[in-house]
Amino acid sequence: MKIRIVDLLKSDIYGIDVYVRGWVRTHRQSKNISFIALNDGSTVHNLQIVIEHVKFEKNMLKTITTGSAIGIKGKFIRSAGGKQQVEVIAGNIEVYGIADPQEYPLQKKEHSLEYLREIAHLRLRTNTFGAIFRMRHNMAFAIHRYFNERGFFYFNTPIITTSDSEGAGELFEVKTELKDDFFGSPANLTVSGQLEGELGALALGAIYTFSPTFRAENSNTFRHLSEFWMIEPEVAFNDINDNMELAEDFIKYCINYALENAADDIEFLAKMYDEELVDRLKFVVNNEFVRLTYTEGVKILEESGHKFEFPVFWGADLQSEHERFLVEEHFKKPVILTDYPKEIKAFYMKQNDDGKTVRAMDVLFPKIGEIIGGSEREENYEKLAKRIDELGIPMKDMWWYLDTRRFGTVPHSGFGLGFERLVLFVTGMTNIRDVIPFPRTPNNCEF
Ligand code: 4AD
Ligand code: MG
Repeated sequence: MKIRIVDLLKSDIYGIDVYVRGWVRTHRQSKNISFIALNDGSTVHNLQIVIEHVKFEKNMLKTITTGSAIGIKGKFIRSAGGKQQVEVIAGNIEVYGIADPQEYPLQKKEHSLEYLREIAHLRLRTNTFGAIFRMRHNMAFAIHRYFNERGFFYFNTPIITTSDSEGAGELFEVKTELKDDFFGSPANLTVSGQLEGELGALALGAIYTFSPTFRAENSNTFRHLSEFWMIEPEVAFNDINDNMELAEDFIKYCINYALENAADDIEFLAKMYDEELVDRLKFVVNNEFVRLTYTEGVKILEESGHKFEFPVFWGADLQSEHERFLVEEHFKKPVILTDYPKEIKAFYMKQNDDGKTVRAMDVLFPKIGEIIGGSEREENYEKLAKRIDELGIPMKDMWWYLDTRRFGTVPHSGFGLGFERLVLFVTGMTNIRDVIPFPRTPNNCEF
């Protein structure tokens, strides 16, 4: 019976014949017998294969080194001793592909994350990256499930676009070798699906996007990528409070899903990298997020007496050190900051009556800082058009967006969750390059 190791390890039907295939993590030889730790990617746990030398050809056995791919047909039994619970006594061995020990880069039991980043194509074969990318899958699945169960429609927004929703000048241009304006006007890779997402929400009621996004910001930090994935729900008739409820409920659901469905991988990552991981995840799930305004937050930071690398004052864009101070030192809870100065936020956010702030909301997390950014949107045509004009955004490019405010406009809200920041949080990893299979950052775009 062909079976994945994850399923086999759950089984308690012993004595049956099984067929497993995977990659050799280690091959320990003793005099008459050897032990292979086999991993097929389905779980962080290896399956022990017992090989009695008399049954097999010596030269063939020699080729089975760390990294080789093999198939084993054999008997699944309860292990006689040692720390293994179960094992497979090999009856037949098939060698698919060898991995020359002189060349194979993953010989050692442990490698540094920095080294593994240089061999991103092979790091997937380690327990660490297996755990991370199974988790990434689990989070993607949880996200689709969450929205589907709540009547949101998955809505696909363009990757190539002519709009710049965040207006931060971080665009990657799209052109061909021969033509600068293949599309008849300058185009770029999207920084966010929001503006088109709003069009969807104002027709379907509630939508979400889950899409790659691209930012040419030159920030080499633990939490920035040039290509990252974003989840952007957008809901007609939601105000900022509904938006905060949704964001909190949504992210707690994802974290709970991880705790309930990826316990083995979490346990492994916690043991290897972050002993407080489980506590931190439970802490977020079990606590209400603190809600306060940017103005109140800045006051706390100013009065804290803490020395920050970047100065903090009303009007300043908060840095991760400020965000983390509020979350980790001051409140010791996740925080939702609202009502930011309009100058540091995007043009589409709903303007407050004070004329200075907009109805923005950022969700701030321990270790990460900003994990979600969103807002209620300005639904009033005149106010929105005026803001677009003030910021010098070419009105002719925005006609389609403004049309939603001309025809059947309604209050609406949404936010963006940085997918990799979520995966960072639930894996306890500390560098965003380690939670996307093939990271793109300034000066780094291999494969
Ligand atoms: O705060 P941002 O820029 O918000 C938007 O793009 C809005 N259009 C979202 C919306 O309201 N629909 O980005 C949203 C989130 C951030 O909170 C952060 O988690 C993540 O996207 N993010 C990045 N993640 C990795 N690398 C980067 N360079 C990121 N920039 C933003
Ligand atoms: Mg933001």
